[in-house]
Amino acid sequence: MTDPDLFPCILGIESSCDETSAAVLEGFHVRSHIVYSQMIHKKYGGVVPELASRAHEHAISQVVHAAFEASGKSPEDIDALAVTYGPGLMGALLVGLNYAKGFALARDIPLIGVNHVEAHLYAPMLEFPELKPPFLSLLVSGGHTMLVDVRGMRDFSILGSTRDDAAGESFDKTARLLQIGYPGGPVIDTLSDSGNPRALRFPRSLLEADSLDFSFSGMKTAVLNHVRKHPELSDKEKADIAASFQEAVVDVLKEKLRRAVRASGHKRVVLAGGVAANRRLRAELKKMAEKMQLELYYPPLEYCTDNAAMIAATGVMYQRAGLFSDLEIAAVPNLKLA
Ligand code: KG4
Ligand code: ZN
Repeated sequence: MTDPDLFPCILGIESSCDETSAAVLEGFHVRSHIVYSQMIHKKYGGVVPELASRAHEHAISQVVHAAFEASGKSPEDIDALAVTYGPGLMGALLVGLNYAKGFALARDIPLIGVNHVEAHLYAPMLEFPELKPPFLSLLVSGGHTMLVDVRGMRDFSILGSTRDDAAGESFDKTARLLQIGYPGGPVIDTLSDSGNPRALRFPRSLLEADSLDFSFSGMKTAVLNHVRKHPELSDKEKADIAASFQEAVVDVLKEKLRRAVRASGHKRVVLAGGVAANRRLRAELKKMAEKMQLELYYPPLEYCTDNAAMIAATGVMYQRAGLFSDLEIAAVPNLKLA
């Protein structure tokens, strides 16, 4: 028998953007994990909020049922339910949150409202349960780019963040300019294999000498100007642009992380968020970590992008700390981390 205080059985639900996801965890052990990625947005080159809400509504109970079926657990086994309540799209968040409230009420189990961004920070714990704060996190997703000093649960400070586009957003916008598909990150990651990262020199905006903030809009504008000047791009030219753009983003992220390590003194570094799936970024940060003698953690690929396993993992931490939400909890689209 496992101790439910240490290894609670948690159902996690995530619906903040365009992934409908459910996971069943026992402690940090993932019993099951289902992600339904909404394909409907592909033809628009970005997430359409109203379509996202409808697709969540359509998928949510099937996704939860599939998670139970794969887990070997049943609703009676669940000790608490963890659900994203922000940040994200209002309509999308409401679908998951209301489903979770109904489930918690029906089963008379506690509800844990989870900050999606905080959950990204903890995603590496799904593979490394021994990983504990304090650590420095580079969080790079479609909506966020920040360096976070994580001292403990709910004890963060943001050392730097983006002044314009998020890193993932810049991948998505560049892919849209090149008309190579959505979401842009994975497409650029793959296409870069056949491109030359030194074919073009896109600007690396590092801001003031000691700044830990980011700016990606200049890079995106440079791609836009290039595409306008060369409207008939061959596949090889597109691959060169993709690889050169990716190189510029990776260079900036690397330099900012190096600065943050120096400024904060942290030796343990965690890479998280959708862009953490980028192979070039992972490889370059690995080299840098070896040189600077850092302990580097990044989540397995499937837990980099949005997923309910990281929501449930955050739920495990909250359950252990006895931190629960009441059923009145509201969705907060612009929920902040600190
Ligand atoms: O964390 P996430 O799933 O959603 C947010 O919370 O925003 O991140 C999605 C972002 C998208 O912008 C996507 O293009 C980017 O992560 N992404 C990548 C890769 N895979 C996903 N960016 C670069 N390289 C990748 N392999
Ligand atoms: Zn996310």
